[in-house]
Amino acid sequence: MIKVKKRKFLLLPGDGIGPEVVGEVKKIIKWFNKNKSLDFEIDEDLAGGVSYDKHATPITDEVFYKALECEAVILGAVGGPKWDDVEFSKKPERALLKLRKELKLFANLRPAICFKQLVDASTLKPEIVSGLDIMIVRELTGGIYFGEPRGIKPIDNGERKGINTHVYTTSEIQRVARVAFDLAKKDKIMLLLVKINVMEAACFGKRSSDYMIRIQDVELNHMLADNCAMQLLRNPKQFDVIVTDNLFGDMLSDQASMLTGSLGLLPSASLGAKNKEGKIRAMYEPIHGSAPDIAGKGIANPIATILSFAMALRYSLNLDKEADALEKAVQSVLDEGLRTKDILSKGMKEVSTSEMGDAIISKLQ
Ligand code: IPM
Ligand code: MG
Repeated sequence: MIKVKKRKFLLLPGDGIGPEVVGEVKKIIKWFNKNKSLDFEIDEDLAGGVSYDKHATPITDEVFYKALECEAVILGAVGGPKWDDVEFSKKPERALLKLRKELKLFANLRPAICFKQLVDASTLKPEIVSGLDIMIVRELTGGIYFGEPRGIKPIDNGERKGINTHVYTTSEIQRVARVAFDLAKKDKIMLLLVKINVMEAACFGKRSSDYMIRIQDVELNHMLADNCAMQLLRNPKQFDVIVTDNLFGDMLSDQASMLTGSLGLLPSASLGAKNKEGKIRAMYEPIHGSAPDIAGKGIANPIATILSFAMALRYSLNLDKEADALEKAVQSVLDEGLRTKDILSKGMKEVSTSEMGDAIISKLQ
């Protein structure tokens, strides 16, 4: 059995803006070690395109084993146009998908919270987004991302066909639904989004989750995914917890991020099941990508990654007080009007990635 090293974080900054935003988390970890006498250990390694460039594989076995042994992985972002022509199985994104699948991180928590200071940063009217607080629970190790058969195959008439398969089993649906049920406030509504009008697998998913309503005290409503995409723009505050499959969760969480002002603000936690000691395997990452167009310019927003680290403190280490302090520090910096370029508005002060990180640290003091 693999022994998990307590309080050891594996940082995988990855590609594009990944190293810049994870760099800010590194500073925060060092701050906690120095000022709160916390004994966090950090290790850092390659994943994604940078690993492909050096080792001809998006993640080496060595790095994968490090991920198995640490308390939690903090990932920046992977991918970029540089690797567009790389063979499919070696693409940077395979590193991320392998970590999710093989660490069995089936529940991906993507909170979309609109900070009061950033109400004007959203492209939607303030009254639509102010006070927004949604949790999207995305199934992360099944569905069309991993279903078989898959691939590109020749067919009779000289043509070829591309295949991916959407597939879920009862237990896969119920274990992610259970996580969502635990997160849902009792009096609020939770939605399972499926295309039950089109897909047999979705219909099956609805039945599997309906079964669970009978065993847990939560109100569960179903909404079609296309309708949800529309409702998220029309009246997003009607939602509390949204639990959905891998592909819809990917799309709807990007959409939800714009309700909060920027893709640069949304953190995420990918969690596995609790083991006998109550510990979970976990990986934390911003929901944004590697943003190669702004990489290396020092203008990326580190907040999503910093808030992902706050989730790591909360979910992996049960350090709620420290997580609260970090989230409050982010709020204070926003209160003072500091903004990275993506959330800049009139009258606010533009700061770089590292200035934002430093300002957040100064609020932790
Ligand atoms: C995400 C990303 C990934 C996904 C990519 C990079 C493989 O978009 O985490 O949302 O599709 O899951
Ligand atoms: Mg995505």
